[in-house]
Amino acid sequence: MIKVYIKSFGCQMNVYDANRMADVLAQNCAHKTTDDPSQADVILLNTCSVREKAQEKLFDELGRLRRLKQSRPTMRIGVGGCVASQEGANILRRAPFVDLVFGPQTIHRLPAMLDKQAATGKPQIDLTFAAIEKFDQLPAPGINGPRAFVSIMEGCSKFCSFCVVPYTRGQEISRPVADVLDEVAELALRGVREVTLLGQNVNAYLGAEPGGTADLARLIECITHIDGIARIRYTTSHPVNFTASLIDAHARLAKLMPSVHLPVQAGDDRILARMKRNHTLLEYKSIVSALLKAKPDISITSDFIVGFPGETSAQFERTLKLVKDVRFDGGYSFIYSARPGTPAANFSDPVGHAEKLDRLKRLQQLLQDLARQRSATYVGTAQQILVEGPSKRDGDWCGRLPDNRMVNCRGKAKLGQLRDVRITGTSGYTLRGEFAT
Ligand code: SAM
Ligand code: SF4
Ligand code: F3S
Repeated sequence: MIKVYIKSFGCQMNVYDANRMADVLAQNCAHKTTDDPSQADVILLNTCSVREKAQEKLFDELGRLRRLKQSRPTMRIGVGGCVASQEGANILRRAPFVDLVFGPQTIHRLPAMLDKQAATGKPQIDLTFAAIEKFDQLPAPGINGPRAFVSIMEGCSKFCSFCVVPYTRGQEISRPVADVLDEVAELALRGVREVTLLGQNVNAYLGAEPGGTADLARLIECITHIDGIARIRYTTSHPVNFTASLIDAHARLAKLMPSVHLPVQAGDDRILARMKRNHTLLEYKSIVSALLKAKPDISITSDFIVGFPGETSAQFERTLKLVKDVRFDGGYSFIYSARPGTPAANFSDPVGHAEKLDRLKRLQQLLQDLARQRSATYVGTAQQILVEGPSKRDGDWCGRLPDNRMVNCRGKAKLGQLRDVRITGTSGYTLRGEFAT
């Protein structure tokens, strides 16, 4: 029995892929996953290259593993994910003790790659973009509680000027409707009550179905008919693909949860154009107003990049103004990180790091304040949560509100129940509550 330890970095797509690696290895009886790297015969690192820091984590980790491998020469090391995709054989030049290099879309070939490496003693590399083959060949997903992620499309065709993802994950490609529905139905049979549909630009989904193609709104509508599924979410959406049909789905479909992660990156039209986001600020704001009209309690979160090359302080102030105008319910913000091979890496960048850090702190403080203010409005109200596990603090159980806020609750419950709760307090962003019945 070969023991495999898997560590994932980066976005939810990578977390999903890492779980699928465990599934494919579990199906192959010779392999078993372990949580303890010191016990592992094979260590797989599922990497991210979206920012320099994320990429450096791989090489820090490889430094540690090299020492471990010196003491246990039979141990094998595999590098997957977006750094593998971008760097390919360079990884073997920088870290010659690595045995496998595989891309985000070749994880289904892992057992064969491991066997071939064992048979030949030679490093194996497979970075082909075999997105649909990957889904066809992966076994049924393992489950872990009443919530599950389902990847419905791969890749990105947008080529924002700052971003590596189109190079590391390939073009946008959607899974056929029937495949997604089968996977969700299988999850529902095994107790899953909430699914989150995943894609780099998940609302660019266009899946084949008999007689044509279905968009994300139609796919979600089909999922609402699957017995057992009570809640549906999706992430990450892109403003350019935010259609009227998706906005309408929020108004019509009770199982579609009122929370949307809609990255805007910046609040200034000239920066948006130089980022190649392909939409204006006004277009973004009109999506937000339409969403609020369709679903007044919807929570909208976003991603922001501060210090994009040449961003002036006036342009940054416009990002703050946008955040205040939209009243985002929190978000992720990052300092721009130049990525080799992307157009923005050649733009001149006169703003110093200290100034960028200061902008980041101001933006993060504002986003945090807005999220906490919204949390406070829940105190004293009646809500519903999906019980998803024991509470880590402040209660017996935890679960999420429709808008995705975590609530720690006192009282008796069972995993996977939808329960009425009364919100009694907040600790920052998270809420405290009691079961109502
Ligand atoms: N496809 C999604 C979209 O366009 O909204 C985003 C996917 S990307 C993996 C997640 C976030 O990483 C982006 O929204 C952006 O804020 C951030 N990001 C991407 N490239 C970056 C870079 N070079 N420097 C800093 N942040 C970056
Ligand atoms: Fe990157 Fe832009 Fe694609 Fe998002 S849409 S993954 S930011 S290139
Ligand atoms: Fe990172 Fe690749 Fe995701 S670069 S953010 S792991 S798509």
